[in-house]
Amino acid sequence: MIKLAPSILSANFATLLDDVRKVEEAGCEFLHIDVMDGHFVPNITIGPLVAKALKKGGVDMVFDVHLMIENPDNYVKDFADAGADIIVVHQEACIHLHRTIQNIKSCGVKAGVALNPATPVETIKHIIEDIDMVLIMSVNPGFGGQSFIEGVLPKISQVRKMADELGIELDIQVDGGIKPSNVHQVVKAGANVVVAGSAIFGSEDIKATVEEFRKNSML
Ligand code: DX5
Ligand code: ZN
Repeated sequence: MIKLAPSILSANFATLLDDVRKVEEAGCEFLHIDVMDGHFVPNITIGPLVAKALKKGGVDMVFDVHLMIENPDNYVKDFADAGADIIVVHQEACIHLHRTIQNIKSCGVKAGVALNPATPVETIKHIIEDIDMVLIMSVNPGFGGQSFIEGVLPKISQVRKMADELGIELDIQVDGGIKPSNVHQVVKAGANVVVAGSAIFGSEDIKATVEEFRKNSML
């Protein structure tokens, strides 16, 4: 069974809590919170205040914080205090990746590492046993609503193989351009956590779309 992680990037920020309640009611497990700084990626989004407000508003999902920022160490504690359950940093943004992972874990939060489409899986070989989740980007980060890059599919299988060979339990998340029509491809490759922004929040009938994701993931 996959875990679905709707990305609030495609929600309506004027009615954010109501939008999030809809995906929670539809049974989505993770809430994917996209944090962008205008440096690591060309776009700017939100900070810990918004995560904190959603927590305070009573949202009871796994708060999955995707940091697309430079110097993520400076903000790890703020997001942990704001209610993050898992913090994902980009391999490309971390000079001392092992240290950053330890920093996240020392805040009592799960740790994940994201890889841009052009970043090889080998770059996380030596820290894979220290983390809870690998995020394979299937678009170049920065915006919602982009097209899925099929070339990343072998990377998903490669990470799953690495985890199986080590005998570790690892969540493999895929993010970018995922729709009910292609979800089976990423799940077949070995992913078990699926991010979807525009496909879920842009849907007229969120419940039906969530069901379609689950049904098609089992194809
Ligand atoms: C891209 C973000 C994604 C994005 C996904 O930079 O990390 O989480 O919101 O949106 P869709 O599903 O519309 O590609
Ligand atoms: Zn994301």
